[in-house]
Amino acid sequence: MPPPISVVILAAGLGTRMKSKKAKVLHHAGGVPIVEHVVATALAVAPPDRIFVVVGRQAADVQASLSGYGVRFVLQPEQRGTADALLACREALSGCHGPLLVLYGDCPLFTVGSLCRLVETHARGEAAATVVTTLLENPAGYGRVLRDENGMVRAIVEHKDATPDQLAVREINSGIYCFPSGLLWKHLAEIQPDNSAREFYLTDIVAVFRRAGHLMQPLLLADPLEVLGINTRADLALADRVLRERKTRQLMLDGVTIEKPETVAIDAGVTVGADSIVGPFAQLLGRTAIGEDCSIGACSIVRDSQLAAGVVVAPFSMVDSCQLESGVRVGPFARLRMGAYLERGAVVGNFVEVKKSRLGAKTKSQHLAYLGDAAIGQEVNVGAGTITCNYDGERKHPTAIGDGAFIGSNSTLVAPVEIGAGSYVAAGSVITDAVPPGALAFGRARQVVKEEWAKKRKAPKSGEAPAHNTTIG
Ligand code: UD1
Ligand code: CA
Repeated sequence: MPPPISVVILAAGLGTRMKSKKAKVLHHAGGVPIVEHVVATALAVAPPDRIFVVVGRQAADVQASLSGYGVRFVLQPEQRGTADALLACREALSGCHGPLLVLYGDCPLFTVGSLCRLVETHARGEAAATVVTTLLENPAGYGRVLRDENGMVRAIVEHKDATPDQLAVREINSGIYCFPSGLLWKHLAEIQPDNSAREFYLTDIVAVFRRAGHLMQPLLLADPLEVLGINTRADLALADRVLRERKTRQLMLDGVTIEKPETVAIDAGVTVGADSIVGPFAQLLGRTAIGEDCSIGACSIVRDSQLAAGVVVAPFSMVDSCQLESGVRVGPFARLRMGAYLERGAVVGNFVEVKKSRLGAKTKSQHLAYLGDAAIGQEVNVGAGTITCNYDGERKHPTAIGDGAFIGSNSTLVAPVEIGAGSYVAAGSVITDAVPPGALAFGRARQVVKEEWAKKRKAPKSGEAPAHNTTIG
């Protein structure tokens, strides 16, 4: 068996051109930090314990963002260039003898297919090492690839150090390489910082290898987008667009209808079942899982939520950290958040907010309500304008409503309070005390009717001016 592949991902850089307080590789594209895309791609060719991420700027944050993957980390204490970053891994990789892939953590669009091609090209080729290149219309900022008469890479010259002739070269270095481990560690330390930035450039390995009689071959990729390096926020926006296009395209191929897909944002980790429909401008974010036959209406935002089959989220709704069982209907203009749990067939309509509450099967709250810290049974009707008063200014309190209860419109339920199964609350009530099962509770003044009152008010008694201030009674 050939020795297994190892991967080093360089992610320690300062990212100065982002002009950010946050390390560059932590900026999000396609809904996750850009370095996470690179790790996910690397996992297609190597197990997690053979993937080494070089960290430096905000090392702890970068490590935390990748903690779920089981990859290993190497600290580059001072950011002295890409060769220095790779050299920091020498000890950690001393037991790895197979091919070593080097990826840059700011290059999130490189695909698994191309990474596999690199491994195969390297295995088949005659050259000692392989570098991925592409042709750019505007190669500004990238290292230029200079070839020899046999098409091998003669040198890589950084933009800052290139002559006008070299700047005219359109073939660029992607920063993605395959090296034989032994040869790399033997020669890497020979790289010197003799360039305008006084940095240790990994790209100088080409010249170092050549001096020792070893060649580097190019693998020219047709799609320049795959090797986009993120240096600025404009690059970030472009990468985000490409990742979202890939995501919506994949979902559509898997049987999801997406209307106006160019307006829809779906994060990398989101799953959507077949025959679901996603409307224009919808956003499906974070760890969201949507079942089959669901409908997510235009302009709705669903984040970190689980939706079972056949759930309808009508337009302009927000669903954040919620669980919706099959057949639930939400919106339009609904807001569900912080662990709201809606059982099978429950309905939450327009201008209803639900927070940390459970609604039983087929319970309905169709219009204009606030349900917070409430445990509501099955087949309850929550009338329009119902408010759970869950906050006393210091603490939150629970409201419990039993199965089959009917809460009349415009009721104010002052928590903590319990409303029994099958009971009725009269419209307009302020409920401060428990309502027993099956009871009817009024919490409002009884209506008073004064017959003929208007006529009496308007008709002045003989010799008197009409009254301006009229009191009732
Ligand atoms: C680099 C290449 C350039 C190539 C381009 C492709 C070098 C010298 N240049 O330039 O030829 O065309 O990428 O995108 O390699 N990093 C560290 N430690 C450091 C410096 C950088 O870990 O001390 C990491 C960064 O976090 C980043 C990657 O290495 O992920 C590349 O660094 P960056 O400064 O962006 O290199 P470029 O100037 O883009
Ligand atoms: Ca870069």
